[in-house]
Amino acid sequence: MRMKIWIAGAKGQLGCALNDMAEKSGLDAEILNTDREEVDVTDIAAVLAFAREEKPDVIFDCAAVTDVGVCEAQAELAYKVNAVGARNLAIAAHETNAKIVLLSTDDVFNGIRQVPYHEFDETDPMTIYGRSKLAGENYVKEFAYRHFIIRSNWVFGRGSDRNFVNQILKAIETKKELYIAVDQYGSPTSANALASFMLRMIQTEGYGTYHVTCDGVCNRCEFAKEIVELAGKDVKIIPVPTMKAEFSSARPTYTVLDNFLTRALGQDDMPTWIDALEEYIEEIRPIFS
Ligand SMILES: NC(=O)c1ccc[n+]([C@@H]2O[C@H](COP(=O)([O-])OP(=O)(O)OC[C@H]3O[C@@H](n4cnc5c(N)ncnc54)[C@H](OP(=O)(O)O)[C@@H]3O)[C@@H](O)[C@H]2O)c1
Repeated sequence: MRMKIWIAGAKGQLGCALNDMAEKSGLDAEILNTDREEVDVTDIAAVLAFAREEKPDVIFDCAAVTDVGVCEAQAELAYKVNAVGARNLAIAAHETNAKIVLLSTDDVFNGIRQVPYHEFDETDPMTIYGRSKLAGENYVKEFAYRHFIIRSNWVFGRGSDRNFVNQILKAIETKKELYIAVDQYGSPTSANALASFMLRMIQTEGYGTYHVTCDGVCNRCEFAKEIVELAGKDVKIIPVPTMKAEFSSARPTYTVLDNFLTRALGQDDMPTWIDALEEYIEEIRPIFS
């Protein structure tokens, strides 16, 4: 049966990837894309009016303030969008009996221990971004029973100039050396691979919280070196601590996510981050070369 999918925050990286991957996979779905101009997720009346009119089967909450620095500087905005926005969409999902998918983050963990975090580990966010996203997760659990909370990490995709890959590609058009954080660890994750995973997940009843990242772990220097190499440029990557690094915000240094639950359920088919990066750079090469 044809599925009706509402993507809130559709102009961002995951919104774009969901559209691309739905089309590529031939999913039988009508997609309703909205961003701030069409439906501001912080406006409960607007959210409910849209949901009542359209009656979606699935709601994706991709609307967020994702810049860690902006969240620190504007806590009210961060909570309003990341927490209250998620609450509003969860209430709409409950009322229309839709499934809801909330995108969340590794920043819900404190990063103190040097071991990857799985879905049953205690959360303890250290940043306003992480706290506001965790508040959003809690609202979704409270108001919408049919939920998927998908935590991911270091996402790169079309629809953002701010992602690490695009920032490095832009910088190496003119610079011959870059100062990159050697003390930040993560699993770079392609928005396309994540979107494909979620589009399969919404066709099931397997609700709950999942960690979904590409396979493998690296630090920001290793990530940057791979980007430079794949771009075919001769640029020196100089390892520095986060506080002296370009393109990195002050945040916990080791919040690697373990795809524990999807692996346990035999559903973890995410590609390695290097394969996913290679595919992404091929996709956007015409823009940068
Ligand atoms: N990027 C990552 O590395 C990463 C990692 C883990 C989890 N996530 C989560 O994944 C989700 C999507 O991330 P992304 O990378 O696709 O983010 P993104 O590229 O920044 O896209 C977010 C979109 O939401 C829109 N938005 C902001 N406030 C809104 C509002 N009040 N009403 C409606 N739309 C609004 C933004 O519009 P403007 O651009 O106009 O603000 C933007 O189009 C977020 O929940 C994020 O927390 C991201």
